[in-house]
Amino acid sequence: MSTIMYERLCANLERLKLTKIAMVLDNYLERANKEDTSIIEALDYLIETERSYKDETSLIMRVNVAGFPYRKTLEDFDFKFQPSIDIKTINELKTMRFIHNKENVILLGPPGVGKTHLAIGIAQEVLRNKFSTYYINCHKLVTQLNKAEYENKLEIKLKTLSKYKLLIIDEVGYLPFDKQGANLFFQLISKRYEKNSIILTSNKGFSDWGEIFGDNTVASAILDRLLHHSTVINIKGESYRLKERKKVFTMIGGDNK
Ligand SMILES: Nc1ncnc2c1ncn2[C@@H]1O[C@H](COP(=O)(O)OP(=O)(O)O)[C@@H](O)[C@H]1O
Ligand SMILES: [Mg+2]
Repeated sequence: MSTIMYERLCANLERLKLTKIAMVLDNYLERANKEDTSIIEALDYLIETERSYKDETSLIMRVNVAGFPYRKTLEDFDFKFQPSIDIKTINELKTMRFIHNKENVILLGPPGVGKTHLAIGIAQEVLRNKFSTYYINCHKLVTQLNKAEYENKLEIKLKTLSKYKLLIIDEVGYLPFDKQGANLFFQLISKRYEKNSIILTSNKGFSDWGEIFGDNTVASAILDRLLHHSTVINIKGESYRLKERKKVFTMIGGDNK
């Protein structure tokens, strides 16, 4: 290969943003020469290397955008510890049908039973399937919506939050909503309704939602939209955090009170 041709090849790889091919090219050409590799084999190897590199980097970017509070997967989840969760339901969610059908997932249960872990675990599968995801804590969400409303930017904020294929709203009900907060939350749920999926977690049963939102009518309007196409996973079990603590206390021979 002439120097001019090699230089043009390198420049084109850069222009076409074929970064990985540019990185491996020199070594690969040497090896391909020695091994008498066919053109089709060489093209296949180089393009496949670029594709897998691009997939990897775009997954890393999507995970960063998602903003999880911690990174755990469904493989890290001990389903034996939480027998009230039907593994078939989790496997069904893994098929991504809920994303295609714009359905929601509601995870209910007391603190420490794995609601956030499962939400993140399902979301990691969603990201692996190349869909965008955004995680937000409910209190933070309402603060941001209030701020946007105050700054006359509510429409833009709602639009941004509606574009993600999956939005995780974590810890609904830990803090009560004021009238404006409930109203803004309702607007977000309405905007996403039948357009994109939500995973919502709450430590409160649906019967308490009137109290959380300070208004039965708003609460039932929100629930109506959320539950219309949804999977509800009600986790009835012990806190995993408590189990971990008990284990440590047993190890050090302490009193677990
Ligand atoms: N069944 C489980 N298997 C493995 N880790 C778990 C399980 N349940 C909870 N955890 C871990 O316990 C901690 C608390 O779980 P989390 O999902 O945050 O609870 P919450 O239901 O309050 O959202 C996290 O570190 C989580 O990874
Ligand atoms: Mg949680």
